Amino acid sequence: MRDERKAMNDEYSFDLKEAFRSDAQKDAGEGVAQEELSLRPQRLKEYIGQKQVIDSLTIAILAAKKRQEPLDHIIFQGPPGLGKTTLANIVSKEMGVRIHHATGPALEKGGDLVSILTSLERGDIFFIDEIHRLPKIVEELLCPAMEDFAMDIIFDKGANARTYRSRLEWFTLIGATTRSGLLSRPLRERFGIVRELGFYTMDEIALIIKRSAAILKVGIDDEGGYEISRRARGTPRVANHLLKRVRDYSQVKADGKIDGSVAQKALSLEGVDSDGLTILDRKFLEAIVTYYKGGPAGIEAIAATLQEDSGTLEELVEPFLLQQGYLIRTSSGRRATEKAYLHLNVTPPKDSPQPQRSLL
Ligand code: ADE
Repeated sequence: MRDERKAMNDEYSFDLKEAFRSDAQKDAGEGVAQEELSLRPQRLKEYIGQKQVIDSLTIAILAAKKRQEPLDHIIFQGPPGLGKTTLANIVSKEMGVRIHHATGPALEKGGDLVSILTSLERGDIFFIDEIHRLPKIVEELLCPAMEDFAMDIIFDKGANARTYRSRLEWFTLIGATTRSGLLSRPLRERFGIVRELGFYTMDEIALIIKRSAAILKVGIDDEGGYEISRRARGTPRVANHLLKRVRDYSQVKADGKIDGSVAQKALSLEGVDSDGLTILDRKFLEAIVTYYKGGPAGIEAIAATLQEDSGTLEELVEPFLLQQGYLIRTSSGRRATEKAYLHLNVTPPKDSPQPQRSLL
């Protein structure tokens, strides 16, 4: 079974999971290519896309600076790869304060949180990626700390229990989550600024690719940029990942410059089709269309059929397929739309659904 699963995964030439490894995981791990970090914008004025988010953050930052006060707590929500960590870093640069990075699941004990919070100076940013995965006990300590900038630490148990109130500096918490629905209400209510990041337009991604190519010192024309952009799932992280694969191809198989034809050949080797669907996306749709006769099918059933983790499918695969209208979600499960059938070259049944609303 394991080998079978491995063999299946090896088929995914373009590894969505690798491309989407969370920023915090990458930042914490060794060997985050300096190159990769340098592709991320450092300041608000360099940021392409998410105009409303950038405009409102700019105002909040200018106002906080004018008042000489720390920023309100902020939460960024949305699918992976859209810039949540990048924005947290930008906010710290713009405010001129330090940023401390953590991830929800790594903050295992109350003590982990206490030692970070007590080390923060006025205005510092505490960034928690995957904040929806914070253990309950840590969350219960964090909520009052966000509200009162103080923590009640309990010593001893039973009749000997004493509490000691530890005062904290006025800090800013920035949380990032791909699953905003999983945040508890008390935690969510403590964020003054809540911003949803959406997929980028094709034009925005093409601009991001142009900027990245200039940083990587690789020549690219407009057609080359658009070929990559079309397949980037509206996601800068995927765009930059694909750009690097196309750069490799162009240096080995062409003259080192990226045009439309070089990009097309390189990307078809990666298994990404002209609509940006990866092999995993197509397998997901195929499972619903052929195995579950178009659905409805539950996510756990689809995950079992593909021998994939259901969380991976929900976070990495579904958002793009839903947004592009290949899939609809109903109370009884996922259904493939007419567009999904046509994409797989299968004749759609007469009653195959249309996307619920156009998000395009
Ligand atoms: N690189 C990755 N995301 C970017 C963005 N939103 N703007 C500019 N460069 C980027």
